[in-house]
Amino acid sequence: MAADDQQPAPDAPLHVAIVMDGNGRWAKRRGLPRQLGHPKGVEAIRRVVEAAPDQGVRWLTLYAFSTENWRRPAGEVAEVMRLLKHYVNSDLDKLVKEGVRVRILGRRDGLPDDIAEIVERAESRTAHNDRFFLQVAFNYGGRADIVDAARALVAKALSEGLKPEDITDEVFQAQLATGGLPDPDLVIRTSGELRLSNFLLWETAYSEFVFPAVLWPDFTPAHLKSALDEFQKRERRYGTVTDDVLVTN
Ligand code: IPE
Ligand code: IPE
Ligand code: MG
Repeated sequence: MAADDQQPAPDAPLHVAIVMDGNGRWAKRRGLPRQLGHPKGVEAIRRVVEAAPDQGVRWLTLYAFSTENWRRPAGEVAEVMRLLKHYVNSDLDKLVKEGVRVRILGRRDGLPDDIAEIVERAESRTAHNDRFFLQVAFNYGGRADIVDAARALVAKALSEGLKPEDITDEVFQAQLATGGLPDPDLVIRTSGELRLSNFLLWETAYSEFVFPAVLWPDFTPAHLKSALDEFQKRERRYGTVTDDVLVTN
């Protein structure tokens, strides 16, 4: 990559969310069992976490395991669990040192004890960091998260007298796993699939989307840079109109 390509885009988005898709196909194309794509996917995670701050990204949210991914063969699920543990065990000291705050988005119920412990450790050891924010969506589903938020609000209605009119966008958002985080400016899904697959359903209301054809294990900082460049060309309107087309009556 030319040095010029390493420069942050002038107006880079603050929050990038990535559906890291294509690990299985990466392995299959090489005649390997699907699950051998996942360790290669972890290498891509390391590259992107390393490069993102220098490209002007302050929040990075990675979709690692969905509530629906439990439907996969047990061996593959076990491999993804093993890799989460391995990633945290081997990279946590570095993340702590580099000022990265880690937050895991997703249901904690139903996680095996050792995984719940590692999730807890990653969050508590980085809780005081604020240079860069890394969210890992693990056992995450957008619908499950919205349902959980609704349940929490009903519980508050019963215990604290929260009223229907007290429930605003902001109050609802605060109950989501992403409570307090800005919405993603840009969502990238690799591998050429054109769908959200239950990722950040509430939060992506006004996100921009880029779908590079590259399989996740082949994703590099240059791919991130070109997605950011594409994002810079988009005009975000949030339902309003731009000045030059304003019609005055
Ligand atoms: C994404 O890659 C990683 C996880 C969902 C854990 P996939 O495993 O979905 O790869 P493909 O889509 O089968 O190629
Ligand atoms: C979405 O990818 C989940 C993650 C990347 C973790 P999937 O590969 O599970 O999505 P579908 O099944 O193709 O929609
Ligand atoms: Mg997939």
